[in-house]
Amino acid sequence: MEDLTLFSRRDFLRGAGAFSAATLTLWMGGCEACWKQIQDRPMRKNISNLSASDPIITTYKAAVAAMKALPSSDPRNWQNQANIHFNNCTHGNWFFLPWHRGYLLYFEQICRKLTGDSRFALPYWNWTTHPAVPDVFWDTTSPLYDINRGVTQAMQADQSFVGATEIETILSQTNFDLFASGPPVGGELHFATNTGMLEGTPHNYIHGWIDSSDMGTFQSPLDPVFWTHHNMLDCLWVDWNINLNNSNTSDPSWTNQQFHDFFDENGNPAGITVIDTVLYPIFLYQFEPCAPNETKSKKTKAQLEQLLKAGAPSKWEVSKHFELAQSVRADVGKAATGSIKVEPGAFSGALESTGRTAVVLTLGEVEIPEKRDFFVRIFLNKTDVSARTPIDDPHYAGSFALFADESAMKGHAVKDAVAGRPKAGFIVNITPTLRKLNQAGSLSGATLDVTLVPVPYERREAGGQQFTLGKLDLKVASF
Ligand code: C2O
Repeated sequence: MEDLTLFSRRDFLRGAGAFSAATLTLWMGGCEACWKQIQDRPMRKNISNLSASDPIITTYKAAVAAMKALPSSDPRNWQNQANIHFNNCTHGNWFFLPWHRGYLLYFEQICRKLTGDSRFALPYWNWTTHPAVPDVFWDTTSPLYDINRGVTQAMQADQSFVGATEIETILSQTNFDLFASGPPVGGELHFATNTGMLEGTPHNYIHGWIDSSDMGTFQSPLDPVFWTHHNMLDCLWVDWNINLNNSNTSDPSWTNQQFHDFFDENGNPAGITVIDTVLYPIFLYQFEPCAPNETKSKKTKAQLEQLLKAGAPSKWEVSKHFELAQSVRADVGKAATGSIKVEPGAFSGALESTGRTAVVLTLGEVEIPEKRDFFVRIFLNKTDVSARTPIDDPHYAGSFALFADESAMKGHAVKDAVAGRPKAGFIVNITPTLRKLNQAGSLSGATLDVTLVPVPYERREAGGQQFTLGKLDLKVASF
């Protein structure tokens, strides 16, 4: 990323103009040579392009082996690193991306310290271009192997979750909540009440698809694949934010939020402030391109400052709102439909406008079942669909997957709060599908039929499992 050239050396020395002096002091410690260090910041690379003997792989292996060998009294110990996630992770709301960005950063620093490889940059797994779990994770004698995986080396992740078309659709969301997950409903940071498209689709799917007692659970960081999976999400966030010029929310409840869940390279407690995490990829590391058709955008310094530091309100102006407050229950392999009453012409604004008006479907009050050997497809105005209905059907509106059940989380007050907890929610932009249906003349009725099909993962026994939600909600909103 060339963005750094926008900042003069003087900018950095006096606090980079835009960025908080505290943040910069933290990173640069007033050190003049740091300017050069930032310019040459380590490159996080695509793991599938690295040979088994590449120094990055060698370091990653050595780091994981070292962490596994540390005593359990050391917070950098492998199991303790996973416990950070088990006890504190945030999912299904807009703290998902920054929390995991901070988690990865400290993990990377621990890897450096334990191996002495001070330039180590965590590689990422690009599941769009390489949809199978990368080869380096399959050597059974390697510390990167995890015996608990449910997939095989040959199996490929489903294109409807990780393929270029789907990832481009997700990257084309201009609204922060839709891309990155929205504000936590009810304010509880650790419940997945408002899952956006990056998280609900490729993120959750990869966890559920790899399955196992590790990746499918909040102990997922026990599988070394986890870190490379989240690094890909981090790279896509950089692309969405910096290359594609989309603003993160400026809501102070997001920017000012702190998390003190981590440990640094010496095993001392460490934390993050959310606004600082948006600067990590400018100052601390960079990525090889990971998004389909990725191109760097040229920005002035003022534009970059505005984008990163100021963000933009993620307020939704809802002009129409329809709801079906009734539960919908679908058995695996079978379709179930909820019909939402809508007024004629309800969507016309969104269908015609090329601007920022969208129709957003919320699947609300979703019960995360204990067994989740399936994902869910959404079809609009077509009820005779099944697990075999192809995704190029014009009625297809998206797919999402379910991650672990919060009741499995140990920390905070989470376990105690489980009884009265808000249930999971997912938001999906259905505007493109509605446009197609409108053009085909199949959008005229007084209802919108939302049909959900739980589809079993390949070679998994999902018989008897169910998907249940309590509420369907439709909003016409301008961003
Ligand atoms: Cu916190 Cu992908 O998990």
